[in-house]
Amino acid sequence: MNSFDFYNPTHIAFGEGKIADLNKLVPAEARVLVLFGGESARRTGTLDEVTTALGERQVTLFGGIEPNPSFETLMEAVAQVREQGVDYLLAVGGGSVIDGTKFVAAASVFEGDEWEILTQGGRNIERALPFGSVLTLPATGSEMNKGAVVTRKSLKAKLPFHSNHVFPAFSILDPTKTYTLPLRQVGNGVVDAFVHVVEQYLTYPAQAPVQDRFAEGLLQTLVEIGPQTLAEPENYQVRASMMWTATLALNGLIGSGVPQDWATHMLGHELTALHNLDHAQTLAIVLPAMLRERKAAKLDKLVQYGERVWNIRDGSAEDKAEAAIAKTEAFFESLGVKTRLSDYDLGEQHIEPLIASLESHGMVKLGEHGDVTPEVCRRVLQASL
Ligand code: NZQ
Ligand code: ZN
Repeated sequence: MNSFDFYNPTHIAFGEGKIADLNKLVPAEARVLVLFGGESARRTGTLDEVTTALGERQVTLFGGIEPNPSFETLMEAVAQVREQGVDYLLAVGGGSVIDGTKFVAAASVFEGDEWEILTQGGRNIERALPFGSVLTLPATGSEMNKGAVVTRKSLKAKLPFHSNHVFPAFSILDPTKTYTLPLRQVGNGVVDAFVHVVEQYLTYPAQAPVQDRFAEGLLQTLVEIGPQTLAEPENYQVRASMMWTATLALNGLIGSGVPQDWATHMLGHELTALHNLDHAQTLAIVLPAMLRERKAAKLDKLVQYGERVWNIRDGSAEDKAEAAIAKTEAFFESLGVKTRLSDYDLGEQHIEPLIASLESHGMVKLGEHGDVTPEVCRRVLQASL
């Protein structure tokens, strides 16, 4: 096991009716800006519930944060924060709204060009406004981590940043708030959470048995509840498991002390930046081909994954690895998330611009060994046509 520094200050309030806890979680004197996405938070009544729970506090709203939140929109929120003297933010939505709120929290008090928060990956963040979240879509883990991804539309760049200053102070996880999700977003959420675990688990053996077993437990749970959560949107227990599993998949715990990959995510971000695919769709396209391409380096872990998560018992190590990848691919398809570039009307002609974009963002040594070069990514995309 590698040495590590695990820090996670986010307070989780979990369960039906927990939005009422906002009254104790948000400081009484706070001047609050509530940030949300398109119309879902208003349409479902969650926004009303939130503003009611905030009681007598001074509350203003900022709506319109889009999926894959844009720098351009978020800078409008930053202007509102500065004009109105807001001192507390509250995100109501999925990963995009929470990520966007993290950016607004840091950018509102940032001195200098705010885009540099992204170009520096958040290393230049020295402080941020405090904020909480009310999660409506289980998928990203943003509700309990210090990462965010922001897209600058004018540059077609989708870049991540991380900082200890942007952990949510609290997140409210009420599984009933997910009942209204479109099935496409439910499938996306299962795939995203699954790939988060894989990126932190499927590397090489690192003598970290408890991290491995936590990861395998999360993957097995997703395999079990993925189809149920699609089939029974109002099954509270299933939605509750989904919500907590997605949070645990990326809150820093399973990734502590182990090598991490993230090549699939970084290549996926280019697909979203250039072609506006949903985040999880990009992962479903890239992951199977990425695992096949790197089968030799990942063989030990692929076999372990196949045996423990998919119960694959027969054949050589190579057979087991291939069977595990095929199971993964079939699982994503069964959730309604397509796994080929051609399923999204993308072809050979789109590969070179994606590789050029990856290079322009300096994403040239990806993966747990730093050996996932643009050439490797090109082969991965060719294999996922
Ligand atoms: O915009 P509205 O109208 O609110 O609709 C949203 C949106 O269209 C809708 N939705 C959310 N909750 C709903 C609902 N519709 C009905 N009922 C509800 N309860 O769902 C759509 C998608 O929402 P979005 O927030 O974009 O989805 P997700 O949570 O998958 O977030 C994706 C973003 O998170 C980033 C991705 O790159 C992407 O930008 N990620 C953030 C990570 C992190 N912070 O650690 C890690 C991830 O790897 C990921 O990269
Ligand atoms: Zn993700």
